[in-house]
Amino acid sequence: MKAISYSRYGPAGVLEYGERPDPKVGPDSVLVKVRAAAVNPVDWKAREGYLQAGLEAVFPVIPGWDVSGVVVQPGAAVDEFAVGDEVIGYVREDFLSRGTFAEYVAAPVRTLARKPLSIGFEEAAGLPLCGLTAYQVLHHSLKVQGGETVLVHAAAGGVGSLAVQLARHAGCRVVGTAGPHNHDYVRRLGGEPVEYGEGLAARLRDLAPDGFDAAFDTVGGEALRVSAETLATGGRLASIADAEVFSYGGRYAFVRPDATDLAHLAGLAEQGIVSVHVDRVFPLEQAAEAYRLNEQGRTRGKIVVSVEWED
Ligand SMILES: NC(=O)c1ccc[n+]([C@@H]2O[C@H](COP(=O)([O-])OP(=O)(O)OC[C@H]3O[C@@H](n4cnc5c(N)ncnc54)[C@H](OP(=O)(O)O)[C@@H]3O)[C@@H](O)[C@H]2O)c1
Repeated sequence: MKAISYSRYGPAGVLEYGERPDPKVGPDSVLVKVRAAAVNPVDWKAREGYLQAGLEAVFPVIPGWDVSGVVVQPGAAVDEFAVGDEVIGYVREDFLSRGTFAEYVAAPVRTLARKPLSIGFEEAAGLPLCGLTAYQVLHHSLKVQGGETVLVHAAAGGVGSLAVQLARHAGCRVVGTAGPHNHDYVRRLGGEPVEYGEGLAARLRDLAPDGFDAAFDTVGGEALRVSAETLATGGRLASIADAEVFSYGGRYAFVRPDATDLAHLAGLAEQGIVSVHVDRVFPLEQAAEAYRLNEQGRTRGKIVVSVEWED
């Protein structure tokens, strides 16, 4: 099969497009014919070697944890999915080896859900990792409740844009940080945009004089510090970007594959309650360009790589 892979840590230039062996399919996995795979910052952080203390790499590594596609071969013990089923997945193992930037990926059923039929493969590929992150942080870590005021950082990004929609669906008022060019986009998601940078704490106090009931940090550093400073008494804080959150009494989260959470998200997408904005689509062979663009930190929604099939 054709795939993107890298044989050593380094910048996007280490990515190669070429022939790789087809994946083997274990008894509780399915072989997915990939239609689209989404870019996530964790892919390039891992490729650079930034995560090697906690994440082993078995080279050559095929990057990518997000996928949408079609089941072509269920494993012997799989009765959840059949040939032809359209699926989405957050296909993360505890090591880097065989990811989703390929024509085929073997995906354990615990990482999969049925693809919402009402959305295309490209939008669907952007849902699993960011949707699960947003859902698990809001509902498992922060335990947001209707009527609460919630702060979401990088509200125009992959995780933030889904967090705004999910928190609104939970009945919360949502304030989201974003650059001015993204303010209308954040409003369309249901959030109240606020510009980040110098003076952020004062702007947040104007919007939420009693403080935030919950804050979702996706940026770290100054964003985390300001989040802690603008919490209401008893407010909850969670970060996916900065372990310093512990020093503020908050929680650190790392998204887990969860078939039940993913099926729930797929249902929300099917009903149009959450959507994924597809910022740019690249063909598989141009994955390095897709990563270079994401590394600039300006993605609105998701950058997606699409695999072209003739049939
Ligand atoms: N621990 C976990 O489980 C987990 C899971 C997913 C992601 N993450 C991490 O969380 C971070 C966000 O992920 P993502 O996928 O949402 O990234 P992303 O989509 O690449 O984020 C891009 C967005 O960030 C915004 N942004 C950049 N700097 C900002 C700042 N200082 N304040 C507010 N917004 C800012 C940009 O908006 P503007 O153009 O408006 O500036 C852009 O829309 C990454 O570091 C990622 O590795 C962790």
